[in-house]
Amino acid sequence: MKKNIVIMLIALISVGIWGSFMLLRLIEDKPEPEEPINEIIKLPEPEYHSHTSVEEALLKRRSVREYKDVPLTLAEISQLLWAAQGVTDPGGFRTAPSAGALYPLELYIVIGNADVPDGIYKYDPHKHELTMIVEGDKRTELCSAALDQPWVKEAPVVIVISAVYERTTTRYGERGIRYVHMEAGHAAQNIYLQAVSLNLGTVVLGAFDDEGVKRVVNMKDKEQPLYIMPVGKV
Ligand SMILES: Cc1cc2nc3c(=O)[nH]c(=O)nc-3n(C[C@H](O)[C@H](O)[C@H](O)COP(=O)(O)O)c2cc1C
Repeated sequence: MKKNIVIMLIALISVGIWGSFMLLRLIEDKPEPEEPINEIIKLPEPEYHSHTSVEEALLKRRSVREYKDVPLTLAEISQLLWAAQGVTDPGGFRTAPSAGALYPLELYIVIGNADVPDGIYKYDPHKHELTMIVEGDKRTELCSAALDQPWVKEAPVVIVISAVYERTTTRYGERGIRYVHMEAGHAAQNIYLQAVSLNLGTVVLGAFDDEGVKRVVNMKDKEQPLYIMPVGKV
């Protein structure tokens, strides 16, 4: 009887030691969580006045594919992103219209020559700030994904407009898809007109490899890139 108890005790202790050892192995083998890149850049307040009238901006708007090799300022970046999707009302309404005010668009800026460290940043319209999501100059990779259109790697910064369709299709069904595309057009035209007023040039690109752009920008699965807009001084 005593012998049985001793054997059981030894067995229990062995299982305990083995269990602790395995637990330790599991903890040790667990990969380190990726270092979050959380550099946040507060954008300067946008300017609400300029010497360019809406009519002049419309008259001068042209697709521009050649830029000076001059860095963009944070004030210029702030103004372009605000023009595209800035919040202009305490109710959350923005510079561009949105079906049902559901705001399916997301904005990224790929920076390679500006007042801020190179990287890919996501724009938060409510806080009017940028969060770095990818480190380093990714313009060459984005250029490859954009079927090697050289203005993508030559521009100091490149804006990428994407959409989360389900924000709109949940309410409007299939018809929501066209609403999302219309909204990308509104945001892009705002960027075009704002660029004229800042003496900058830009062009909308619709020709690119969707999956390639998603990979470079580190987009979520449910998000689709719609427009790429290189921007630079003219
Ligand atoms: C939906 C759409 C997709 C476009 N895609 C490209 C493109 O991939 N590459 C490019 O260089 N221009 C692109 N463009 C720009 C057009 O070539 C340009 O708007 C056209 O030549 C008229 O010139 P403008 O914009 O100066 O008036 C695109 C324009 C639109 C509206």
